[in-house]
Amino acid sequence: MDLMQAIRGQRSVRTFRPDAVSSAHLTTLIEAAGWAPSPHGRQPWRFVILTQPDVKQHLAEAMGTTWRNHLAQDGQDAASIERRYQRSLQRITQAPAIIIACLYLDDLDSYPDPERQAAETTMAIQSLGCAIQNMLLAAYALGLGTGWMCAPLFCPHEVRTTLNLHASLHPHALIPVGYPAHEPTRKSHLSVEALVVEWK
Ligand SMILES: Cc1cc2nc3c(=O)[nH]c(=O)nc-3n(C[C@H](O)[C@H](O)[C@H](O)COP(=O)(O)O)c2cc1C
Repeated sequence: MDLMQAIRGQRSVRTFRPDAVSSAHLTTLIEAAGWAPSPHGRQPWRFVILTQPDVKQHLAEAMGTTWRNHLAQDGQDAASIERRYQRSLQRITQAPAIIIACLYLDDLDSYPDPERQAAETTMAIQSLGCAIQNMLLAAYALGLGTGWMCAPLFCPHEVRTTLNLHASLHPHALIPVGYPAHEPTRKSHLSVEALVVEWK
């Protein structure tokens, strides 16, 4: 597949057919992630793959409980909280596979001052985004659809506890993977002219 065609074609998929995703395909996605650039080449990412329905259900419920509390704190009414909760539960449980992308900082450089340490962490987060994008593009080339849910950032403790993850793993994104139920909505994107602020 032509690379620009893949970059333009890959969009967020939020509903999937029930067909399973093969272990070979899931392995390819992780390999693609692993080829991303990273600070000092330290590859500050690790991934959790979930395909078992009971594990996905348990995770979705644990994250959903925190989300419901956050929505209530924001002053949302009970009916819309329940509607949004059910939709997110469905999105996670109905995806044939889920990949949790975790930031892993233990192999990065350490600095005595907080500014450089913060820059090191920022670089790691930037590269985790690159790794995820590699994964999304590789999935698209295999005919798979993917989404990106930021929910783990808002409830890392629940994700760690439910999946029994080591404290060194910082869950940053939840990627549902499967065969798209239908063509995703294609939003318009900014033009090159709008994106480039200076070209001297
Ligand atoms: C860091 C990040 C967090 C995101 N979180 C969510 C999310 O929680 N739920 C969701 O439906 N989409 C999420 N998205 C996907 C964006 O909504 C989507 O990429 C954007 O609307 C553009 O749509 P497209 O990917 O189909 O072009 C996230 C994307 C990024 C990069």
